[in-house]
Amino acid sequence: GRGAAMVTAVALRLAAQRRAVNEVLGPLRLSRDDLVKVQTLMRQEMDRGLGKETNASASVRMLPTYVTHTPDGTEKGDFLALDLGGTNFRVLVVRIAEAGITMASEIYVIPVGVMQGSGEELFDHIIDCIIDFQTKQNLVAQMLPLGFTFSFPCQQVGLDKALLLTWTKGFSATGCVGQDVVQLLREAAKRKRHLGMQVVALVNDTVGTMMACGYDDPKCEIGLIVGTGTNACYMEEMKNVGTVEGDQGRMCINMEWGAFGDNGCLDHLFTHFDLVVDETTINPGKQRFEKLISGMYLGEIVRQILVVMTEKELLFQGKPCPKLQTKDIFKTKFLSTIELNGLALRQIRTILNELELDATFEDCVLMREVCQTVSLRAAQLCAAGLAAVVEKMRESRGVDQLSVTVGVDGTLYKLHPCFSNNLQMTLKDLAPKCNVTFMLSEDGSGKGAALVAAVADRAAKAKE
Ligand code: GLC
Repeated sequence: GRGAAMVTAVALRLAAQRRAVNEVLGPLRLSRDDLVKVQTLMRQEMDRGLGKETNASASVRMLPTYVTHTPDGTEKGDFLALDLGGTNFRVLVVRIAEAGITMASEIYVIPVGVMQGSGEELFDHIIDCIIDFQTKQNLVAQMLPLGFTFSFPCQQVGLDKALLLTWTKGFSATGCVGQDVVQLLREAAKRKRHLGMQVVALVNDTVGTMMACGYDDPKCEIGLIVGTGTNACYMEEMKNVGTVEGDQGRMCINMEWGAFGDNGCLDHLFTHFDLVVDETTINPGKQRFEKLISGMYLGEIVRQILVVMTEKELLFQGKPCPKLQTKDIFKTKFLSTIELNGLALRQIRTILNELELDATFEDCVLMREVCQTVSLRAAQLCAAGLAAVVEKMRESRGVDQLSVTVGVDGTLYKLHPCFSNNLQMTLKDLAPKCNVTFMLSEDGSGKGAALVAAVADRAAKAKE
C-alpha cells in the first residue's frame, strides 16, 4: 500500500545519503595497513635524519639537543623560564629544591602582528614581558639563570646556542631564521638595558616535557606534544647519531616529526580537505604531518568537510551558510565538545547556532561523525609515529620487551575526550612488544627548561 511505499522511499533516501557520506569520509578512514605503512615510513625517515650523509634530505630532521641525561634528582636552584610557541606565551619562576619543585607564572599575549612582524619587535616584546614578570614577582635584583622553551625547529650547537631553521605554527617574524635565538634574546635585553637575566639553555617543548616527567619517573625517555603543533623527542644512543661526534652514552633527539611527509612520502594519504587546508596556511607544503594531527588544523579540516557536505546537500538541507566560509571559525575545541560522550545533542546545536547554522537532529549526528573521523585519524597517525619511536628504542637496547614512559603535553591531548584513548589503543596494536605508559605533564615546558638550565648552570660553574 501507500504506507509501505513511503517507508521504502525513506529507506532508499537514507541509504543513498549513507553512501554519499561514506564517499566523503572514506578517504579519511585509515586501515591497519595504512598505519603500518606510516610507521615504516617514519622509521625510514628517522634513520635518514640520523645519518650524516642522509640528514640533509630527510623530512624528519632528528635534531641533536645536547641534553644527554634525564634528571637525576640532584638538580637545584631558582630559575626563570620562558615558554614560547604553544597556545600561550608564559614567563615562570621555577624553584627546584630537595622537597620538590614549586613555581609561579604569568601568561602574556603575543598579538598576531608581533608574531608576524619583525624579529626585533618580537624579542623586545618578550623582554618587556620578562621585566613585567620580574617586577611583579620581586625578582628584579636577582640575576637568575634562565631556561628558554622555544618550540620551533632549531639546529643546536650547544645548550645555549640554537639556530632557528624555520618558523612553524603561524609565526613568521622576520630576521630570525638562521639566527641564534639565544643571541636574539640577549640582544633584545641589551637594547632594553635589562641586565637581570642570564640565558643558559634553550630547549624544545618536547624536551622540556620529557625532562619534567623524567624528574618524577626515571623511565620517562620520550616527550610528546599534541597541542597547537605536534612533535616528539626521545633518548637515542650516541652511536646511532651520525650528526654529532662521539659514540658514548645517549642524547635526546628532537625529531621535528611535524615535517614528516614534506618530501612527498605521505602524499598517498592526503585527502582533498588536507590539500585545501595546507594551501591556506602561511607555510604551504610544510609541516604536512602536523597538519593532519594538531590543534591548529583539525578544526579547519572539519570545516572543509562541512562545506563540501553542505554543497552536496548532506547537511543543513543544502542551505548556504556564509559563516562557514570563514577560515578558522570552526575551533578545534568544538571537536572536543561535540565528541564528549553522552553530551546532549542540544549542546552541539548551541555551537552550530554560534556559527549561524540551523541544524536538525540529523545534522548534529552527522557533524559528530565528521569530528570523530578527523580526530580518530589524527590519534592513529600520532600512534603510528610513536610506534616507530618505541620500536627503534627497543631494537637499539636489544631487548625483547621495552618498558618506557612518554611525557605528554598539549591542549589537544589534554582536552579532547577520546584522543588519548585512541592513541594508546592504536599504539598497543602497532607496537605490541612495548609497554608504554603515558604521563601527563603539568607545566612541563617551564619545569623542564628549568631542569635543563640547572644542569647547564652547574656545568658552567664547575668550569669557572
Ligand atoms: C611544531 C614545532 C616543534 C614543536 C611542536 C609542538 O611542530 O616545529 O618544535 O615541538 O610544534 O609545539
